[in-house]
Amino acid sequence: MELIVAHDRAGLDKARSSRSVALVPTMGALHEGHRSLIRMARAMGEQVVVSIFVNPLQFGPDEDYARYPRTLAADLEICAEEGVDVVFAPSPDDMYRPDRQVSVSAGEMGTIVEGAVRPGHFDGMLTVVLKLFNLVRPDIAVFGQKDAQQLALIRRMVVDLDLPIEIVGAPTVREGDGLALSSRNRYLTSDDRHAALALSRALRAGAAEREPSAVRAAAREVLASSSLEVDYLVLVDPATFAEVPDSYRGEAVLAVAAKVGSTRLIDNLPLTF
Ligand code: PAF
Repeated sequence: MELIVAHDRAGLDKARSSRSVALVPTMGALHEGHRSLIRMARAMGEQVVVSIFVNPLQFGPDEDYARYPRTLAADLEICAEEGVDVVFAPSPDDMYRPDRQVSVSAGEMGTIVEGAVRPGHFDGMLTVVLKLFNLVRPDIAVFGQKDAQQLALIRRMVVDLDLPIEIVGAPTVREGDGLALSSRNRYLTSDDRHAALALSRALRAGAAEREPSAVRAAAREVLASSSLEVDYLVLVDPATFAEVPDSYRGEAVLAVAAKVGSTRLIDNLPLTF
Protein backbone atom coordinates (compact mmCIF):
# COMPACT_ATOMS: atom_id res chain seq x y z
CA MET A 1 0.00 0.00 0.00
CA GLU A 2 1.25 3.44 -0.91
CA LEU A 3 1.85 6.02 1.82
CA ILE A 4 -0.82 8.74 1.80
CA VAL A 5 0.35 12.20 2.88
CA ALA A 6 -2.43 14.48 4.14
CA HIS A 7 -1.53 18.13 4.61
CA ASP A 8 -4.94 19.21 5.91
CA ARG A 9 -8.04 17.95 7.67
CA ALA A 10 -9.93 17.20 4.46
CA GLY A 11 -7.06 15.01 3.21
CA LEU A 12 -6.90 13.24 6.57
CA ASP A 13 -10.66 12.57 6.58
CA LYS A 14 -10.41 11.04 3.11
CA ALA A 15 -7.44 8.84 4.06
CA ARG A 16 -8.73 7.63 7.43
CA SER A 17 -10.28 4.17 7.28
CA SER A 18 -12.89 2.56 9.50
CA ARG A 19 -10.38 -0.11 10.56
CA SER A 20 -8.69 0.09 13.96
CA VAL A 21 -6.43 3.12 13.80
CA ALA A 22 -3.11 3.44 15.68
CA LEU A 23 -1.70 6.97 15.89
CA VAL A 24 1.94 7.94 16.47
CA PRO A 25 2.04 11.69 17.20
CA THR A 26 5.46 13.24 16.42
CA MET A 27 7.11 16.54 15.71
CA GLY A 28 9.11 14.96 12.88
CA ALA A 29 12.93 14.73 12.64
CA LEU A 30 12.24 11.01 12.93
CA HIS A 31 14.91 8.61 14.23
CA GLU A 32 15.19 4.99 15.42
CA GLY A 33 13.12 5.83 18.50
CA HIS A 34 10.21 6.88 16.28
CA ARG A 35 10.70 3.76 14.17
CA SER A 36 10.16 1.68 17.31
CA LEU A 37 6.93 3.60 18.10
CA ILE A 38 5.72 3.05 14.53
CA ARG A 39 6.52 -0.68 14.71
CA MET A 40 4.55 -0.93 17.93
CA ALA A 41 1.62 0.89 16.30
CA ARG A 42 1.93 -1.39 13.23
CA ALA A 43 1.64 -4.45 15.48
CA MET A 44 -1.43 -3.09 17.28
CA GLY A 45 -3.56 -1.27 14.69
CA GLU A 46 -4.79 -2.06 11.20
CA GLN A 47 -4.21 1.48 9.91
CA VAL A 48 -1.15 3.39 11.15
CA VAL A 49 -1.27 7.19 11.11
CA VAL A 50 1.84 9.25 11.94
CA SER A 51 1.31 12.94 12.61
CA ILE A 52 4.20 15.32 11.96
CA PHE A 53 3.63 18.75 13.43
CA VAL A 54 6.03 21.07 15.27
CA ASN A 55 3.54 22.45 17.75
CA PRO A 56 4.19 26.15 18.47
CA LEU A 57 2.01 26.02 21.61
CA GLN A 58 4.40 23.79 23.52
CA PHE A 59 7.50 25.96 23.06
CA GLY A 60 8.33 28.84 25.39
CA PRO A 61 9.36 32.24 23.97
CA ASP A 62 13.09 31.50 24.54
CA GLU A 63 12.95 27.91 23.33
CA ASP A 64 13.93 26.28 20.03
CA TYR A 65 10.67 26.44 18.01
CA ALA A 66 12.28 28.31 15.10
CA ARG A 67 15.34 26.08 14.89
CA TYR A 68 13.58 22.77 15.66
CA PRO A 69 14.65 20.40 12.83
CA ARG A 70 12.08 20.12 10.03
CA THR A 71 12.98 17.20 7.77
CA LEU A 72 9.72 16.22 6.08
CA ALA A 73 11.21 14.50 3.00
CA ALA A 74 13.44 12.23 5.12
CA ASP A 75 10.56 11.62 7.56
CA LEU A 76 8.29 10.49 4.73
CA GLU A 77 10.95 8.03 3.56
CA ILE A 78 11.15 6.54 7.05
CA CYS A 79 7.35 6.31 7.24
CA ALA A 80 7.20 4.58 3.83
CA GLU A 81 9.93 2.11 4.91
CA GLU A 82 8.02 1.33 8.11
CA GLY A 83 4.76 0.65 6.27
CA VAL A 84 2.88 3.67 7.66
CA ASP A 85 -0.49 4.12 5.93
CA VAL A 86 -1.08 7.84 6.44
CA VAL A 87 1.11 10.80 7.41
CA PHE A 88 -0.80 13.83 8.67
CA ALA A 89 1.44 16.89 8.31
CA PRO A 90 -0.69 20.00 8.77
CA SER A 91 0.53 23.60 8.84
CA PRO A 92 0.21 25.72 12.01
CA ASP A 93 -2.55 27.70 10.27
CA ASP A 94 -4.47 24.53 9.55
CA MET A 95 -4.19 23.40 13.18
CA TYR A 96 -4.90 26.69 14.95
CA ARG A 97 -7.53 29.27 14.10
CA PRO A 98 -6.21 32.83 14.59
CA ASP A 99 -9.09 33.57 17.00
CA ARG A 100 -8.74 30.37 19.07
CA GLN A 101 -9.64 30.72 22.75
CA VAL A 102 -9.95 27.34 24.43
CA SER A 103 -7.07 25.06 25.41
CA VAL A 104 -6.33 22.14 27.71
CA SER A 105 -4.88 22.72 31.18
CA ALA A 106 -2.45 20.13 32.48
CA GLY A 107 -3.42 21.16 36.03
CA GLU A 108 -0.96 21.13 38.92
CA MET A 109 0.82 18.10 37.52
CA GLY A 110 1.79 20.23 34.54
CA THR A 111 3.56 22.75 36.77
CA ILE A 112 6.03 20.41 38.51
CA VAL A 113 9.38 18.91 37.45
CA GLU A 114 9.63 19.54 33.66
CA GLY A 115 6.61 21.86 33.89
CA ALA A 116 8.37 24.02 36.49
CA VAL A 117 11.23 24.66 34.06
CA ARG A 118 8.97 25.02 30.99
CA PRO A 119 5.84 26.92 32.09
CA GLY A 120 2.90 26.27 29.76
CA HIS A 121 4.69 23.47 27.90
CA PHE A 122 2.35 20.70 29.02
CA ASP A 123 -0.80 22.79 28.41
CA GLY A 124 0.37 23.33 24.81
CA MET A 125 1.33 19.67 24.42
CA LEU A 126 -2.01 18.36 25.74
CA THR A 127 -3.92 20.86 23.59
CA VAL A 128 -2.33 19.59 20.39
CA VAL A 129 -2.58 15.93 21.43
CA LEU A 130 -6.31 16.34 22.14
CA LYS A 131 -6.77 18.05 18.77
CA LEU A 132 -4.86 15.23 17.04
CA PHE A 133 -7.03 12.67 18.86
CA ASN A 134 -10.17 14.49 17.67
CA LEU A 135 -8.94 14.83 14.09
CA VAL A 136 -7.50 11.32 13.65
CA ARG A 137 -9.95 9.51 15.99
CA PRO A 138 -7.47 6.71 16.81
CA ASP A 139 -8.27 3.58 18.81
CA ILE A 140 -4.66 3.41 20.04
CA ALA A 141 -1.96 6.06 20.42
CA VAL A 142 1.72 5.29 20.98
CA PHE A 143 4.12 7.61 22.85
CA GLY A 144 7.74 7.22 23.97
CA GLN A 145 8.57 6.63 27.62
CA LYS A 146 11.51 9.00 27.20
CA ASP A 147 9.01 11.85 27.70
CA ALA A 148 7.78 10.21 30.88
CA GLN A 149 5.90 13.18 32.34
CA GLN A 150 4.27 13.83 28.96
CA LEU A 151 3.14 10.19 28.85
CA ALA A 152 1.79 10.41 32.43
CA LEU A 153 -0.17 13.57 31.58
CA ILE A 154 -1.62 12.07 28.40
CA ARG A 155 -2.77 9.03 30.40
CA ARG A 156 -4.29 11.48 32.94
CA MET A 157 -6.06 13.44 30.17
CA VAL A 158 -7.53 10.26 28.69
CA VAL A 159 -8.94 9.30 32.11
CA ASP A 160 -10.04 12.79 33.18
CA LEU A 161 -11.70 13.66 29.84
CA ASP A 162 -13.09 10.16 29.16
CA LEU A 163 -11.32 9.69 25.85
CA PRO A 164 -11.90 6.21 24.36
CA ILE A 165 -8.25 5.71 23.35
CA GLU A 166 -5.73 3.13 24.53
CA ILE A 167 -2.43 4.84 25.38
CA VAL A 168 0.68 2.72 24.84
CA GLY A 169 4.13 3.66 26.18
CA ALA A 170 7.18 2.46 24.24
CA PRO A 171 10.62 1.97 25.85
CA THR A 172 13.35 4.54 25.23
CA VAL A 173 15.77 3.66 22.42
CA ARG A 174 19.46 4.38 23.12
CA GLU A 175 22.70 4.56 21.19
CA GLY A 176 25.23 1.82 22.05
CA ASP A 177 26.96 4.19 24.51
CA GLY A 178 23.73 4.94 26.40
CA LEU A 179 22.66 8.29 24.88
CA ALA A 180 18.85 8.34 24.60
CA LEU A 181 17.71 9.08 21.06
CA SER A 182 16.16 12.52 20.63
CA SER A 183 15.49 14.79 17.68
CA ARG A 184 17.48 17.43 19.60
CA ASN A 185 20.65 15.27 19.54
CA ARG A 186 21.23 16.77 16.08
CA TYR A 187 22.12 20.05 17.79
CA LEU A 188 25.04 18.48 19.71
CA THR A 189 28.65 19.14 18.74
CA SER A 190 30.95 16.15 19.24
CA ASP A 191 32.13 17.63 22.57
CA ASP A 192 28.50 18.15 23.64
CA ARG A 193 27.64 14.61 22.65
CA HIS A 194 30.46 13.28 24.82
CA ALA A 195 29.38 15.47 27.75
CA ALA A 196 25.74 14.38 27.30
CA LEU A 197 26.66 10.80 28.19
CA ALA A 198 26.74 11.92 31.85
CA LEU A 199 22.92 11.88 31.74
CA SER A 200 22.57 8.15 31.09
CA ARG A 201 25.63 7.43 33.27
CA ALA A 202 23.95 9.22 36.19
CA LEU A 203 20.73 7.28 35.66
CA ARG A 204 22.57 3.97 35.52
CA ALA A 205 24.56 4.83 38.67
CA GLY A 206 21.26 5.58 40.43
CA ALA A 207 19.62 2.41 39.12
CA ALA A 208 22.44 0.30 40.58
CA GLU A 209 21.32 1.31 44.12
CA ARG A 210 18.42 -0.24 46.02
CA GLU A 211 17.03 2.53 48.25
CA PRO A 212 15.56 5.86 47.04
CA SER A 213 18.03 8.00 49.01
CA ALA A 214 21.01 6.03 47.67
CA VAL A 215 19.61 6.20 44.11
CA ARG A 216 19.38 10.00 44.27
CA ALA A 217 22.84 10.33 45.86
CA ALA A 218 24.58 8.09 43.33
CA ALA A 219 23.00 9.86 40.34
CA ARG A 220 23.78 13.31 41.82
CA GLU A 221 27.42 12.37 42.32
CA VAL A 222 27.84 11.58 38.61
CA LEU A 223 26.11 14.83 37.58
CA ALA A 224 28.21 16.87 40.01
CA SER A 225 31.40 15.70 38.36
CA SER A 226 30.08 16.48 34.85
CA SER A 227 30.03 19.74 32.88
CA LEU A 228 26.22 19.66 32.56
CA GLU A 229 24.00 22.48 33.75
CA VAL A 230 21.40 20.38 35.58
CA ASP A 231 17.76 21.56 35.72
CA TYR A 232 16.57 18.70 37.93
CA LEU A 233 17.21 15.17 39.05
CA VAL A 234 14.12 13.61 40.61
CA LEU A 235 12.88 10.23 41.73
CA VAL A 236 9.12 10.30 41.20
CA ASP A 237 5.93 8.26 41.06
CA PRO A 238 5.44 7.53 37.31
CA ALA A 239 1.71 8.30 37.45
CA THR A 240 1.82 11.61 39.36
CA PHE A 241 5.41 12.81 39.07
CA ALA A 242 5.41 13.54 42.81
CA GLU A 243 8.76 12.84 44.53
CA VAL A 244 8.74 9.46 46.29
CA PRO A 245 9.70 9.25 49.98
CA ASP A 246 12.83 7.39 51.15
CA SER A 247 10.65 4.53 52.45
CA TYR A 248 8.94 4.12 49.04
CA ARG A 249 8.09 0.69 47.63
CA GLY A 250 6.72 0.31 44.08
CA GLU A 251 7.33 1.68 40.59
CA ALA A 252 9.31 4.91 40.20
CA VAL A 253 11.01 6.98 37.54
CA LEU A 254 14.45 8.53 37.94
CA ALA A 255 14.30 11.57 35.66
CA VAL A 256 16.91 14.14 34.74
CA ALA A 257 17.09 17.28 32.61
CA ALA A 258 20.20 19.29 31.82
CA LYS A 259 21.68 21.71 29.37
CA VAL A 260 24.60 20.46 27.32
CA GLY A 261 26.12 23.50 25.64
CA SER A 262 23.09 25.24 24.14
CA THR A 263 20.97 22.08 23.97
CA ARG A 264 18.54 20.96 26.66
CA LEU A 265 18.12 17.19 27.00
CA ILE A 266 15.93 15.00 29.19
CA ASP A 267 16.24 11.33 30.07
CA ASN A 268 14.82 8.86 32.59
CA LEU A 269 14.90 5.25 33.75
CA PRO A 270 12.02 3.29 35.24
CA LEU A 271 12.92 1.64 38.57
CA THR A 272 11.16 -0.71 40.98
CA PHE A 273 11.69 -0.66 44.77
O1 PAF B 1 6.60 14.07 21.93
C1 PAF B 1 6.38 14.84 20.98
O2 PAF B 1 6.99 14.73 19.92
C2 PAF B 1 5.35 15.94 21.12
O3 PAF B 1 5.33 16.46 22.42
C3 PAF B 1 3.92 15.49 20.70
C4 PAF B 1 3.39 14.40 21.61
C5 PAF B 1 3.96 15.00 19.26
C6 PAF B 1 2.96 16.67 20.78
O4 PAF B 1 3.37 17.74 19.99
